[in-house]
Amino acid sequence: MALDVGCGTGRFTLPLAPHFKKVLGIDISDSQINVAEQYNTASNVSYMVAAAEKLPMKNDSVDLVNASLAAHWFTIDKFASEAMRVLKREGCLALHGFIPANEIEYKNLSHDLTVVMLETWDTLFQHVDTRSTDHMLCQYQTIFEAIPLKDKERITDINVKSPMTIPEIIGFFQSIYMFQQFLEKDAERAKQFLIHVERRIRDILGEEAYSARLNVYMKHYCVLACKH
Ligand SMILES: C[S@@+](CC[C@H](N)C(=O)[O-])C[C@H]1O[C@@H](n2cnc3c(N)ncnc32)[C@H](O)[C@@H]1O
Repeated sequence: MALDVGCGTGRFTLPLAPHFKKVLGIDISDSQINVAEQYNTASNVSYMVAAAEKLPMKNDSVDLVNASLAAHWFTIDKFASEAMRVLKREGCLALHGFIPANEIEYKNLSHDLTVVMLETWDTLFQHVDTRSTDHMLCQYQTIFEAIPLKDKERITDINVKSPMTIPEIIGFFQSIYMFQQFLEKDAERAKQFLIHVERRIRDILGEEAYSARLNVYMKHYCVLACKH
């Protein structure tokens, strides 16, 4: 049994399906669960609305508790104690997140593009609460400390390079939670902000803007633990 907590639309829930008899994705947001259900293609995967701080599972019933890009939103002590309750012996906890590596690479234009990237992230980070940002920026150090298991490991600075076109970069910014928060606060300013970011990138690239694939770097990190 695998439990994906803060599953959102199920992006990291479905890939668990071939490895477990049953997979349950839970999320506090019913709109996210609705979308996840719409895209569910696996018969052993199901979804429900539930909170990380009150897991809808019996004691000692889960082999894997996973949270991808989500643990920094949870009340971590409550989530950790719930994870300890539902995990079987030898069951594992896996938490994963990423932060921008503040680097973008394209021919001799990397410096100018990186400046745009840095300024974009600076603005986006202003739209999330500082508690979540702190968890992300310290690459889950504080979350790691809150896990009451001896057998645990934190792996940081896993650099991942993703070649992306301009529409993919803008689509990525649109999809992240910080931008969604910005949209909720001031939709018009948020939309204008992204249009401005896109224009700046296009200006730097000139004619190559239509075909260029830029290397965008992200720093991934994870916390892994096992209950013996
Ligand atoms: C950035 S999204 C990540 C979604 C998904 N895991 C992914 O990587 O695509 C974070 C998700 O955590 C959910 N979330 C936030 N706080 C939560 C809580 N206390 N309990 C359950 N889900 C929560 C949000 O509703 C959101 O869908």
